[in-house]
Amino acid sequence: MTSDYQGPDRVFSGVQPTGALHLGNYLGALKKFVALQSDYECLYCIVDLHAITVWQDPAQLKAQTREIAAAYLAAGVDPDVAIIYPQSAVREHMELAWYFNCVARVGWLNRMTQFKDKAGKNSENMSVGLYDYPVLQAADILLYKATQVPVGEDQKQHLELSRDIAQKFNNDFSVPNFFPLPEPLIKGPGARVMSLRDGLAKMSKSDPSDNSRINLTDSADVIVKKFKKAKTDMGVMPAPGDDLSERPEVDNLIGIYAALSEEPREAVIARFEGQGFGAFKPALADLAVEKLSPVTTLMNRYLADPDEIDRILDRGADRARAIAVPIMDDIRKTIGFLGA
Ligand code: TYM
Repeated sequence: MTSDYQGPDRVFSGVQPTGALHLGNYLGALKKFVALQSDYECLYCIVDLHAITVWQDPAQLKAQTREIAAAYLAAGVDPDVAIIYPQSAVREHMELAWYFNCVARVGWLNRMTQFKDKAGKNSENMSVGLYDYPVLQAADILLYKATQVPVGEDQKQHLELSRDIAQKFNNDFSVPNFFPLPEPLIKGPGARVMSLRDGLAKMSKSDPSDNSRINLTDSADVIVKKFKKAKTDMGVMPAPGDDLSERPEVDNLIGIYAALSEEPREAVIARFEGQGFGAFKPALADLAVEKLSPVTTLMNRYLADPDEIDRILDRGADRARAIAVPIMDDIRKTIGFLGA
């Protein structure tokens, strides 16, 4: 938190409706969403405007937006407490993104590694929206003057950009502390879940191999099979204090176990010390099934009633708008628009 910002603490985060959620999304984001909701005012957005920075089939986009809502609910987000809504339902996100386009510098965006990773050698053919993605993300957060942002580690750079934009707006318009400098909440063993096939690549929706990730929609059988196939090495489970820097796959599986069981990594290492992967992998698979199966079952139950999901999202959008509208009025006045 910025030391001089006087506003209330508020939590904001978002997930893109671009396909089935995986264990990384669950441990890096959703579990944190649930943990924070009783202590803070929380907004959990389904960022459909971010999703369309790459082509989305319109019918699929709708279905996937409901799927993310169902995942939030199934993971334990309480819609009577936290605010859940689709980004496009609160138009102010787009308006503020434009103002921030005029605050952010091209050089700042040129440094964004996620754009470079996604675009690869093909950046000339990417949408302008994909390039501008982090500016819209800053608008999401600052539209509500959010002070804390629970995310996985891959979002660290985007959060730094949000802070830079907030700071520059405050300086440019001589309104110190108008926007807070939002803090990323990243810590914890689930902040960086890696691929099951490559301990140096992050678990990702876009990995062509489905065996690289555990999807929230996977059945118990599939989860067991995927952990069985997970890459390890010729060694056995490490002892406390062992250096795992050369054993990224093993390190990742221990991290997943710790995040799911909510134990310190050291406790997991001590329990499995010296055992073979033939013992550890089934234990990990059982734990994952125990924790994820209820979420999957609940998700399907919510998805069976799309009207109820839509009602929840409508109500969330109304509550989000009620926070955003007065802040947006102040922003327009600060910029100096006639009639604001
Ligand atoms: P998205 O949909 O790509 O990811 C959603 C959340 O899941 C986290 N995550 C992971 N955490 C741990 N290990 C992984 N392998 C892993 N993969 C994904 C992401 O860090 C994220 O927290 N840009 C955001 C969406 C967004 C947003 C925002 C987030 C838009 N506006 C404002 C916070 C605040 C994203 O990448 O979503």
